[in-house]
Amino acid sequence: MQSNSVSVGLEIKNEQVKSELIEIISSIAGFRVMKFLDQEDCDIIVLEIGDDPEKEFQCIHSLHDADANKGVFLTSSRTEPEILLRALRAGAKEFFTQPLKREEIINAFGKFREKKVYAPSNGNGKKKGKIINVLGSKGGIGTTTISVNLALSLLASPNDNQTSVAIMDLNLLFGEVPIFLGLKPVFSWGEIVQNISRLDSTYLKSVMAKHDSGMHILPSPSQFDGITVANSEIIGKILQLMLKEYDYIVIDSGQSLDDMSLKVLELSDTVLINSILSLPCLINCKRLLESFWRMGYPRNEHIKIIINRYHKNSDISLKDAEKGIQRNIFWTIPNEYQLTMSAINQGKPLTAMSNKSDITRKIRNLAAACLKDMNTIKNETYHVPEPNLSGIRS
Ligand SMILES: Nc1ncnc2c1ncn2[C@@H]1O[C@H](COP(=O)(O)OP(=O)(O)OP(=O)(O)O)[C@@H](O)[C@H]1O
Ligand SMILES: [Mg+2]
Repeated sequence: MQSNSVSVGLEIKNEQVKSELIEIISSIAGFRVMKFLDQEDCDIIVLEIGDDPEKEFQCIHSLHDADANKGVFLTSSRTEPEILLRALRAGAKEFFTQPLKREEIINAFGKFREKKVYAPSNGNGKKKGKIINVLGSKGGIGTTTISVNLALSLLASPNDNQTSVAIMDLNLLFGEVPIFLGLKPVFSWGEIVQNISRLDSTYLKSVMAKHDSGMHILPSPSQFDGITVANSEIIGKILQLMLKEYDYIVIDSGQSLDDMSLKVLELSDTVLINSILSLPCLINCKRLLESFWRMGYPRNEHIKIIINRYHKNSDISLKDAEKGIQRNIFWTIPNEYQLTMSAINQGKPLTAMSNKSDITRKIRNLAAACLKDMNTIKNETYHVPEPNLSGIRS
């Protein structure tokens, strides 16, 4: 968690203002105040303008020149318009007048976090792709089935044969994506982790397995190689590069919620929480929503709930489920055990088994709905509303 939080440094002389700021910032999910100020290392620095504004403005200039993405926030008891104007021109992103206003500070930090998380991939080159992250609210409920067949549907999406799609397996040791596609890959992302200094697009492509459909696969390590040294930063680097190379990257996140998965969540354009209409699964789904709400990401409109293995006569209706998790269900995928099992055992996509079955149609349409949604999402709201599962427990 620590590595995903935004670090804040304080350069404040007034002790009372400083402790007030520490208290407010520490209460905001996803931010941590650094114990020792390191101007280079922090994501945001809050400076106090005191008796010598010229010195402080120079400091803002040099911070801004060194890293234009750093948030330089100011606070002062002085409110003369020329001071405010100079501060903005120097590159300050926010100005908090004293006495401090809690709401104003919380909003400013929220805005910064939103820009940081959802900014196009940092670094060189442009982000081309989008990440669809499929997360299971329980094991064995079809998360890999959906990930693999969704990715293949994206590949075949409307009127072009140029769409590039990759699927990445995050299930450590027990990744099954290659099995579902009838592949025996030589490499995994563990390989990249061990040779991270070599990472460029040629190396990335040489590690990816290739499916007949044209889809590329980045399997998870099936041995401990690479896992022990993998971390969120490395996974972030791999994904940033994949975003430049592929139009769509589907992640089979399984049920993992370690630091690496949190990084993937940060970078995801769409998070599909896979669930079934069972009480434990819906309770887990609620727990995930609560955790996301506390973390401050992924944002509400990026999260979609899907119900797999859906049939109309289930004990829990879709309405009950929606009431319980206080979220609309975005999609349902019908219960078709025989077909899914045969596809898995033969290492074939569902479309190769039966192109006209309900399940293939629903997954194809899910791909189209995700694409449509990703193109219309407005980056406005920040927090996921706190969910409530009282309806489901009663
Ligand atoms: N829509 C569906 N209808 C019926 N059965 C399904 C459906 N989707 C998946 N299954 C079945 O559920 C089982 C588990 O599928 P899958 O491996 O995709 O789940 P998973 O959540 O990825 O599991 P794991 O936690 O082991 O990674 C398989 O036997 C598959 O046939
Ligand atoms: Mg799986």
